[in-house]
Amino acid sequence: MTDRVRERAFAKINLTLDVLNKRPDGYHELVTVMQTASLADEVYISVKRGQGIRAMCDVPGLPRDLDNLAGKAAKAFLDHVGCTDTAVDITIEKHIPDRAGLAGGSSDAAAVIRGLDGLLGTGLSDGELVSVASGVGSDVPFCLFGGTRLCRGRGEILEDAPELPDCVIAIVKPEFSVSTPYLFGRLDDTPVRVRPDTRGMLDALRAGELFKICGLLGNVFEEALPEAQRRQVEDIKSRLVGAGALGAVMSGSGSAVYGVFPNGTEPEVNVPGAEIFIVKNVKKLRQLQKNQSNWE
Ligand code: C5P
Repeated sequence: MTDRVRERAFAKINLTLDVLNKRPDGYHELVTVMQTASLADEVYISVKRGQGIRAMCDVPGLPRDLDNLAGKAAKAFLDHVGCTDTAVDITIEKHIPDRAGLAGGSSDAAAVIRGLDGLLGTGLSDGELVSVASGVGSDVPFCLFGGTRLCRGRGEILEDAPELPDCVIAIVKPEFSVSTPYLFGRLDDTPVRVRPDTRGMLDALRAGELFKICGLLGNVFEEALPEAQRRQVEDIKSRLVGAGALGAVMSGSGSAVYGVFPNGTEPEVNVPGAEIFIVKNVKKLRQLQKNQSNWE
C-alpha cells in the first residue's frame, strides 16, 4: 500500500464573479467562472495506522492541524468514509499567497481530499467528493476538479465550461490583504453598478476568443473595496494593461489582481512592493462524472 503522496494544489482565479443575494444561511449566492492557474502549493500527505491529524505549513503564522483547512479536510474525509484507525500527516510547501482571493487554503484542502481518496483506495464518486469538500469551504469543490468551470450556489455547484485558451497570466499580490467576510459585508451595503456578463463570457470561451474573453473579465467585489484599496487595484490593472495585458481584474475577494497576456509572451510587470507571479492556465484536473445542470 502506498502510504505517502504529493499533490499539487493550484491557485484559482475568477474570470467573472457576480454576487446575487444574501441567503438565509448567511452565505451569498454566486455566479462565477473560475479558472485554475499554475501557481501551486505542494502538499505532502502520509497515512499510517493510528489516530490524529497533523497539518503544518512552511510559512510561519499560518494555522496548524485542525485549524488549517487542510487538516479540516482530512477530518471531514475520514469522518465521511468512517475511517477510525488512520493517522494523517500533512506538510504544505506554500507558494500561493495567503488572503489573496486565490483559494490557496481551499486548494490545499482539495489536495488532501484527492490524496486521501487515492491513498485509502476509497474511490468516492464526484458527488461524494463535492459533498465532503463543500463542508470544508465554498471554493474547495472547484479546487478538486479545476480547469474552467461555471460555479454557482455558494460556489459548490459546478458545471463544465469551455476551456480558457492557452495564455500567460501575471498575478500581482499587493501588500494589503482583504478579509473575505468583511468584503461580503461591504458588498451588502454597496449598490452594484456594473455586473459581469457571465453568459457573454461563456460564449467567448466557447468561441475560444482570448481577446473577447479578456474584455469580459469582471468582479463585483472591486466596487465594494474601500476607496484607497480600490485605487491601488485600479493602478495595478493599469500597469498590467500598460505591460501588454489584454485584460485585468481582481481575483475573488482580493487582494490579488491578475492580467491575461497572449500565449508565448513574457510580460514585464512592475508594481512596487507587490509579489508578482507569471504563470499559465491549467486544464481540468479531473472530468466531472456528470454535469449537475446546464445554466440558462
Ligand atoms: O465557505 P468559506 O468558509 O470559504 O467562506 C468564508 C466566508 O465568506 C463565509 O463565512 C461567508 O462570510 C463568506 N461567503 C459568503 N458567501 C459565499 C462564500 C463565502 O458569504 N458564497
